[in-house]
Amino acid sequence: MATTAKRAFLDTFQNVVLRPRDLPYKVMFPGPTGTNAVEAALKLARKVKGRESVVSFTNAFHGMSLGSLAVTGNAFKRAGAGIPLVHGTPMPFDNYFDGTVEDFLWFERLLEDQGSGLNKPAAVIVETVQGEGGINVARAEWLRALQDLCHRQDMLLIVDDIQMGCGRTGGFFSFEEAGITPDIVTLSKSISGYGLPMSLCLFKPELDVWEPGEHNGTFRGNNPAFVTATAALNAYWADGQMEKQTITRGEQVERALLDIVDENDGAGASFRGRGLVWGLEFADKERATAICRRAFELGMLLETSGPQSEVVKLLPALTISPDELDEGLRILARSVRETA
Ligand SMILES: Cc1ncc(COP(=O)(O)O)c(C=O)c1O
Repeated sequence: MATTAKRAFLDTFQNVVLRPRDLPYKVMFPGPTGTNAVEAALKLARKVKGRESVVSFTNAFHGMSLGSLAVTGNAFKRAGAGIPLVHGTPMPFDNYFDGTVEDFLWFERLLEDQGSGLNKPAAVIVETVQGEGGINVARAEWLRALQDLCHRQDMLLIVDDIQMGCGRTGGFFSFEEAGITPDIVTLSKSISGYGLPMSLCLFKPELDVWEPGEHNGTFRGNNPAFVTATAALNAYWADGQMEKQTITRGEQVERALLDIVDENDGAGASFRGRGLVWGLEFADKERATAICRRAFELGMLLETSGPQSEVVKLLPALTISPDELDEGLRILARSVRETA
């Protein structure tokens, strides 16, 4: 049973996801949580390059275990570690300086300047859209420049697609739009299609330097999740419909957010997003929490995101119908109005 379910998943993942995109990855099953996939990715990168440090970005979130926390930005979450979190080097994410500093100028200078004291990192880990960090969307050209920098400086590029992969931004992988091919990719969350614990670490075949059992775990490979993941891939990804639908629904969200911003002229409202992940922010940083509370009273669950919970985070189910989405967007507009 174990082998059959696992084989069926692997065949489907190859045929439906990897082969049509010409992605050469080997598929590894870490423990079933996202953070364990990140731990596997970090270990592998360090082992391949024989170096310790990994570069991460401001406001990044990669999980709550120690290795993942060391490349996570949030001070509150890091403090929970109770020990120094080392071997992570933070750099500014796209648009951190409001476009005033040329991309990667600082980063590359530090890497090349012997006096900077920065030992060459093994890898860079990045989210294409920072989900927990405030729905910060990296531009495609920034991601391409990051990949070029990694190639020039002999560092591996890890894309953590745990929240933005599996179609959240449109394409199955969030990095497809930028036309990059990361060396290592982590996936989790909706990969099982049914909310069952499952995560994957994908890597280029030449990086497979693992010894047998070197990243071991009792629950690696969760049988029910193999079954539901296979069914979900076949149901939603065997043709191009899911991607088109997500882009269309995203346009529906974008129109509604434009209206909300127009209606709230003077409140410093702004929004950003891709596919079916969007963030709405106001000059008053407390407003997001008030909006989510009002939406809850009106029967809709809405989260906040960002280091000060200052962003209203829209993350509807990818299978949502236009009418359901419209209803949710109307509740959002009403919650915004009633918290003015
Ligand atoms: C980008 C990213 N990486 C890693 C994780 C950690 O996943 P898990 O909570 O399954 O450990 C998350 C969870 O939200 C995430 O959004």
